[in-house]
Amino acid sequence: MNLTRTPIEYPAEPHTYRSSSSWVSALALAACAPKAASQPPVRIAPLKSIAPFPIGTCVQAAQLDDPVFAALVAAQVSQLTPEWELKMEYVLQPDGSYRFDAPDRIAEFAADRGLRFFGHTLVWYAQKPDALARLDGGAFRDAFAAYIQAVVGRYKGRAVAWDVVNEAVAEDGDGWRDSLWSQRLGPLEHMRFAYELAHAVDPGAALFLNDYNLESNPRKRATFLALAEQLLKAGAPLTGLGTQTHAAADLPAGAITAALKDLASLGLKVRISEMDVSLTRADGLLSSPADLRSRQAALYAEAAEAFAALPAAQRFDFTFWGLQDSQSWLRRENAADAPLLFDDAGRAKPVAAAWEAALRS
Ligand code: XIL
Repeated sequence: MNLTRTPIEYPAEPHTYRSSSSWVSALALAACAPKAASQPPVRIAPLKSIAPFPIGTCVQAAQLDDPVFAALVAAQVSQLTPEWELKMEYVLQPDGSYRFDAPDRIAEFAADRGLRFFGHTLVWYAQKPDALARLDGGAFRDAFAAYIQAVVGRYKGRAVAWDVVNEAVAEDGDGWRDSLWSQRLGPLEHMRFAYELAHAVDPGAALFLNDYNLESNPRKRATFLALAEQLLKAGAPLTGLGTQTHAAADLPAGAITAALKDLASLGLKVRISEMDVSLTRADGLLSSPADLRSRQAALYAEAAEAFAALPAAQRFDFTFWGLQDSQSWLRRENAADAPLLFDDAGRAKPVAAAWEAALRS
């Protein structure tokens, strides 16, 4: 089975934290890429042994065929999230049938090693599958329900939690995104219904609302929190809030701490769901590569400290969007980026030691 995926036609802007001069940092970094790769590896204890909360990473099924990478994953984390193979674009076939080979592989890998399995994601604006779009009225609603029931049902008792709704808030924080789901089932109703369906199938699974740029865009964060309150008021069995934390190295200090405090203010579970810190998305005009790396380390340390400072009962997990740089989705955007804790060979980088030190302090 060909696991290389066809790229999603993501609207280009959303995740770009790119400023006009990030090509400068890309250039600066590219100029020193060799040095980045040759950073002296550091010795750290396994991430999951350092943190008083679950540590996760995203993976793709084929990556687990690499015994070196599989060993790194098993040694470092206590939870796995399918990076894309549990999204509609993979599971839902053009004829309306479902395929679960790749997510099954990841779930089995996790179960065999006593790792948690996190389901990502059921309802996402970026997914507009024809198999559903061609239906209308009741048929659409029934197929929407059947999809959620089938996916949550398959991992009932195995998935510890789900990102039920992903990226519902508009890019600039001005209201909610328009999507196939909101058009057909209603702006709030499609979300409320999705949580109701998932909970009915697996009452034991925690159910999250997940989004990005909640650190860099306070207005978006406020809209996200208001949406969570509206869902709760509408009776949605929402368990927790996830902030993706796809940061750039020039994210101001304190932004992550402020965001986590706000998210925890509703008393729900909180998770960092997809952390990476891009060097090449940062405004590198005034920054040397060494400066960008030290700001990267400071952001990872801040995230560790701020998450650890949350009430233990609210800390669900801290997930990285990959472990080694060669695995990162950001490499497709810029081959010089090095956004993760381990280098291409799976060796811990100084930024990993900064994360460890922040949790030990
Ligand atoms: C990304 C994956 O990392 C890529 O492999 C894929 O091409 C696109 O999706 N927010 C999310 C994740 O919720 O699902 C996205 O993952 C990254 C941004």
